Amino acid sequence: MTLYPLPLEYILLSPLRGSGRGSSFIMIKLENIKKVFRTDVVETTALGGISLEVKDGEFVAIMGPSGCGKSTLLNILGLLDNPTEGHYWLDGVEVGGLRERQRTLTRRGQIGFVFQSFNLIDELTVEQNIELPLKYLGVPAAERKERVTEIMRRMAISHRANHYPQQLSGGQQQRVAIARAVVVKPKLVLADEPTGNLDTKNGKEVMDLLTQLNAEGTTVVMVTHSQRDAAYATRIINLLDGMVVEKTLL
Ligand SMILES: Nc1ncnc2c1ncn2[C@@H]1O[C@H](COP(=O)(O)OP(=O)(O)OP(=O)(O)O)[C@@H](O)[C@H]1O
Ligand SMILES: [Mg+2]
Repeated sequence: MTLYPLPLEYILLSPLRGSGRGSSFIMIKLENIKKVFRTDVVETTALGGISLEVKDGEFVAIMGPSGCGKSTLLNILGLLDNPTEGHYWLDGVEVGGLRERQRTLTRRGQIGFVFQSFNLIDELTVEQNIELPLKYLGVPAAERKERVTEIMRRMAISHRANHYPQQLSGGQQQRVAIARAVVVKPKLVLADEPTGNLDTKNGKEVMDLLTQLNAEGTTVVMVTHSQRDAAYATRIINLLDGMVVEKTLL
């Protein structure tokens, strides 16, 4: 008989949970994560054995040349994909081997994603796009309305509530994408080159929003090519050919 059905990591780590920014609670722990993409003809090792930790409340930038595995790593962190090998603990619970349905359920409400290409749904208005994750979570209509209204106000997009994504500027689309990512109040926000398609001014706005969310306690992991954006982070993890080569505390 097992005395403790929970994973050992969970028992060790959970008493520290919730103490917010600056706490030593480890939100993300990766141990020797490998990812190999196989087709009939080629085998690509995208991640060659990544071990790292991200503490609750950190703002981490992941940097490295094109093709070094940044997006692959972020997709694994965000439970959009499984590693081929290795262990991943999220909030002390091992999630690296979850099946797709479990990954989706675990992701919902806990993790918000922001992509370089915004990834909004063209057929839905700004308001409907932002509301969608709340619908998935089964939040009642009245509360959905309240939360969407509030987040649109914060992201300065209320005046475009009934527009469709194609009718918005790039900066506006990314603000909607951030609103959609954070409307569920996730503990972790993952952003893959969130300013990659934006001009300097809109890029700075997006970085300021992520910084604000982080100051309120949200853990942020962001992939970027920009030294300027990386300077917003509290730590930089440098990748090369699917391996961590350097971790810099800012
Ligand atoms: N679905 C896939 N099938 C096969 N190979 C893939 C797949 N996704 C990524 N790769 C390969 O894995 C490696 C890492 O890709 P990844 O997209 O993680 O790089 P990246 O660091 O995000 O690059 P960029 O800065 O250009 O976005 C690349 O060599 C890529 O070709
Ligand atoms: Mg990428």
